[in-house]
Amino acid sequence: MGLKAVIETARSSDAEAIHRLLRDAGEDKLLRRPEGDYRRSIEAGLFCVVRSEGALVGIAGAFPLSEGEPALVEMGSCYVAPPFRGFGLQKLLVRARIAAVVAEVDPNARILTAITPQNLGSRASILKAGFEPLGEHERLLIELCAYCVARPGAASDRLCCCDFFHIPRSRQRSEIAALLRPGPVLLARANGDRLSVTMDIDALKQPRAALAAFVRASAQPADAGA
Ligand SMILES: CC(C)(COP(=O)(O)OP(=O)(O)OC[C@H]1O[C@@H](n2cnc3c(N)ncnc32)[C@H](O)[C@@H]1OP(=O)(O)O)[C@@H](O)C(=O)NCCC(=O)NCCS
Repeated sequence: MGLKAVIETARSSDAEAIHRLLRDAGEDKLLRRPEGDYRRSIEAGLFCVVRSEGALVGIAGAFPLSEGEPALVEMGSCYVAPPFRGFGLQKLLVRARIAAVVAEVDPNARILTAITPQNLGSRASILKAGFEPLGEHERLLIELCAYCVARPGAASDRLCCCDFFHIPRSRQRSEIAALLRPGPVLLARANGDRLSVTMDIDALKQPRAALAAFVRASAQPADAGA
């Protein structure tokens, strides 16, 4: 079976369909966020959508948490419709959002994601996409939890309801290098189904000098913790 899909930067006109997909998904694993988070992510050019034959089949956001130096950005709200799972779309959505963060927010941004310990599928897919577990760095967790709508209650022995992961700078660079290669990305899943994905995101429509410079940048101390 040969399918086609395109990954695009979401527009404000997509907001209703994105919320409908999130509502209809009925996924208790998806961490809900305040509605304003989605609007701001879309307006900042940080939200990505996957379409196939005109239908929305996947979504993924990036949400700036703080504007310090460097900025702190959380990737979240990734949902891939069941018929499109297992191809590796999550990995491409991570790649697209790294580019959006580099182009629109801060090339030095620290990129994190949070996953509930029960969500083993999501954990497997983000590890595959290049994220690595983040130790419980107290200050960082407290900063993140200040924004969380699902903080554990006083009775919980967890500092936070989620496990945290970060994507190292070296991996960010190799993902952007892959993004800059021309042509669609060909994916296949275990049963032999194939999916051809066109990356049509805003970060690739702007002059690519910033992305190319990001790939060329020599390893910096930030690599250790970013
Ligand atoms: C999590 C999710 C986004 C993954 O999307 P996806 O595009 O199918 O993921 P990928 O194809 O990139 O998967 C990458 C790897 O993770 C593994 N993986 C994905 N889902 C898995 C699951 N449920 N159980 C075990 N492994 C899983 C895949 O097998 C793959 O590994 P492989 O290449 O060795 O086979 C999708 O399953 C989903 O939308 N789930 C419901 C919502 C959700 O949990 N979102 C995340 C909230 S933080």
